[in-house]
Amino acid sequence: MELNLTKIRADFPILSRKVNGQDLVYLDNAATSQTPTQVIDVIADYYRSYNANIHRGVHSLSQEATDKFEQARQNIQTHFNIPKSHEVIFTSGTTHSINLVAFGFGTLLDPGDEVIVSALEHHANIVPWQMMCERSGAILRVIPMTDDGTLDMHAYKELLNKKTKLVFVNHVSNALGTINPIEEIIDNAHKVGAAVLVDGAQACGHIKPDLKKLDVDFYTVSAHKLCGPTGIGMLYGKEKWLNKLPPYQGGGEMIDEVTFEKTTYADLPHKFEAGTPNICGGIAFGAALDYMNAVGFEKIGRYEDELLQYTTEKLTQIEGLRIYGDNKHKTAVISFNLDGIHPYDIGTLLDKMGIAVRTGHHCAQPIMDYYKIPGTVRASFAFYNTKDEVDTFFNGVQRAVAMLR
Ligand code: ALA
Repeated sequence: MELNLTKIRADFPILSRKVNGQDLVYLDNAATSQTPTQVIDVIADYYRSYNANIHRGVHSLSQEATDKFEQARQNIQTHFNIPKSHEVIFTSGTTHSINLVAFGFGTLLDPGDEVIVSALEHHANIVPWQMMCERSGAILRVIPMTDDGTLDMHAYKELLNKKTKLVFVNHVSNALGTINPIEEIIDNAHKVGAAVLVDGAQACGHIKPDLKKLDVDFYTVSAHKLCGPTGIGMLYGKEKWLNKLPPYQGGGEMIDEVTFEKTTYADLPHKFEAGTPNICGGIAFGAALDYMNAVGFEKIGRYEDELLQYTTEKLTQIEGLRIYGDNKHKTAVISFNLDGIHPYDIGTLLDKMGIAVRTGHHCAQPIMDYYKIPGTVRASFAFYNTKDEVDTFFNGVQRAVAMLR
């Protein structure tokens, strides 16, 4: 095995705790990943040693905090291969990033313009666009999905036309784990002059995307999906787009000059960073990327594929178990149901055994509607999970089924 799991697991204090008297088996990583000591220490160090507001102070603490925050922006730029550091906008996470773009992009649309969403989206990549369409009169088109949880790419190409202005899809589906063919989606959108936003929330903890190579117009990330804290994330936008979009929020930091007659706005990235940002979170985001890069994304990807295959083979031995989104292009998520058993009941019994999974619609109701189900049981993996944990989970599901049938 390429990863030293004993060493990696020792980095995550939470993994050695007990839940309901049992060793914790944490398989809810798609909801949020756990945080290693290396990142926890960065957070504690910020508040212990140099907590200060940034960009404004002449005093040393403020300068120290500003340097560390801007260094984190550069870490993010390097990690995602973003051409310019001012194309990295700190946000509170993917939901904030998408709302920022939807608010601004709506001002560039005319009634009758078309925008395209996919059927595999999280509500955060649906609802802000519906609100944008209501405001602008643009029309929302949907790329349909197929039984194996992939997008119907033929239908996508048919939807594209000269009226299409923006396409928004996730890189990885949070509910099914499907990896979408974003290269093909971006290339085809660009052929008709449409921009593309890719929601990278579920991809960023498993895949290291090269945003320059992808030539994507916008990409969003939440730090807590990659071993960082909650409440911080980023929006990447091509400079030409970020210059075209109006500011999303007004306040301090985002201005050039304020008078009661007229206010002019700051240059990128500050135009989109009104108010005191999550300074500590931004610095910890950078530290989380350092941590994950030290483990290595290629190794992480290969190991998680192995875990996924191992778990899939085990679960399919259970009679009446159906996995949704059972396709080859997926990562780190298994969504399933058992004949005649409500997903919530499985989740509750697993919790009693110390096993954390998520149940429900996973904020992706259109996917559940497609399969005509109320929800699924979702086990989602990170590089610190082990095959022993999968065995415990598999035994737990079998025990739960025996109790419920
Ligand atoms: N979007 C997160 C999930 O999939 C919360 O669980």
